[in-house]
Amino acid sequence: MSEERSGLSAEELFARGDERTYDDFTLLNTQFSETDKCNVSLTTDLGKGVVLRVPVMASPMDSVTSPRLAIALARLGGIAVIHYNHKDAEGRPNIGKQVEDIMQVKRSQNGFIEDPLVVAPEMTIGQVIELGNKNREPEEAIRTFPVTENGQSHGRLVGLLRREDYFLGSRTNLKVKERMLGLDGLIVGDSTMDLERAREMIWQEHIKSLPIVDREGNLVYLVTRGDMEKSEQFPFATTDKSGKLQVLFAVSTWPESYERVEKGFAAGADGVVVDTSQGFGRHPLEMLKYIADRHLGKLLIGGNISTSEAARELARLDFVDAYRCGQGSGSICTTADAIGIGRAGATAIYECARAVHESRSKMVTIADGGIRFAGDIVKALALGAGAVMVGSMLAGSDECPGEKKLDERGRQIMEYWGMGSKKANVGGEARVRDYGNHEEGIVRRVPYKGKLGKHFPAVVDALLHAFEVSDCRSIADLHNGVSQGEVRFGLRGPAAVMESRPHD
Ligand code: XMP
Repeated sequence: MSEERSGLSAEELFARGDERTYDDFTLLNTQFSETDKCNVSLTTDLGKGVVLRVPVMASPMDSVTSPRLAIALARLGGIAVIHYNHKDAEGRPNIGKQVEDIMQVKRSQNGFIEDPLVVAPEMTIGQVIELGNKNREPEEAIRTFPVTENGQSHGRLVGLLRREDYFLGSRTNLKVKERMLGLDGLIVGDSTMDLERAREMIWQEHIKSLPIVDREGNLVYLVTRGDMEKSEQFPFATTDKSGKLQVLFAVSTWPESYERVEKGFAAGADGVVVDTSQGFGRHPLEMLKYIADRHLGKLLIGGNISTSEAARELARLDFVDAYRCGQGSGSICTTADAIGIGRAGATAIYECARAVHESRSKMVTIADGGIRFAGDIVKALALGAGAVMVGSMLAGSDECPGEKKLDERGRQIMEYWGMGSKKANVGGEARVRDYGNHEEGIVRRVPYKGKLGKHFPAVVDALLHAFEVSDCRSIADLHNGVSQGEVRFGLRGPAAVMESRPHD
């Protein structure tokens, strides 16, 4: 006689066709655990060289994804998508600002810095300081500059201007050539050395920066102690082959996006998200095809979708690496009511991920919208997602755009708004012209959470703990356990949900 199993398999949980969301169920502790959380890997491979050690992505929203947030999240093992809602002084869309954000992330941490900020001997110290501050937070400003004869990135190296060579507030009209350390006293590396050797040289010679030159004395790279330390401090960081943090960017399906795609990739982005709430249609498909034709080596993310029909269509295309799954489930969304079309988050993930799997596609499902707790991430992964995309979980972080304020009761809060809200006014005039101006999102207050590096590690720790309890060492283990009916689910009603929260 076979032993009775607790709860339901995923198939049984969704068999009746009722719409289910994260609160409707829990995972059950049916596995005897032999796993220790220090042996758990949360790694997920989105494709095209973008591998996350923590499967969490920041949504392209102008109340969430500043370059500071993108840097902080990538250092912790996730990745952010830079939004496209920057505007100029007249409120018109500004592509240049999105490009600057991408560049700020790519420049924040390097192994070999291929394109360091370089200055010319005739520049004034004041001009150099301004250059170093450009597009950076004060604590991240660049203060050391290789000096090349012609001021070009890969020109002949003639010196190094270090932080100790000048004051920030006085004598700033002196010329670089009067204060730089010239070639005579400068230690340089040669272009055949690898990163380890360069790091060892920095250590042995007690220096902060090592310019690396070719046989003709032209600058090839810069290696800095600061970057070395950052990579030691953040061993799980999401980096590309040259040690730079990775970042994605969003484009709409409007004609201006063709220019955005080219400029975003030219700025060094590692992938792109075609960002639309209705990703199953002609316009998003045309944009996906345009990008795949020109940038096949880069990560391409489609969506948002929520049905198996749409998932099968994206899978059939064969060039979409991942897709955002969720329509109307976000915490600031009103789409499902505004237009009467949407889907409960858990059902969307289960159905879409299953359709993709049955299509024998490797496309990664990104659960997007409605994730409030680490436990919701675990549930989304169990239903077939490879990663989650979040807004509210990150909103209120110190690195998010916007100011922290005090509410009526003296609590520190920040504002978080939907991209379909009037406040976001995505596209400015263009939106009104093309779509009218009905709202599909709202503005919310969220508690100020402090720095991401302080509050986010607790989320990661909770994920590791859940994997330990479920006796799964990886996301693939969890997926297998669910598809074989070994990982079990408990369906719960409103009283059970109340019981799972603090009782008064
Ligand atoms: P959470 O729940 O993480 O959701 O705050 C973030 C996701 O919500 C989507 N989004 C919107 N959906 N109207 C919508 O219907 C909006 O104004 C809106 N803004 C964002 C988006 O998928 C995001 O990742």
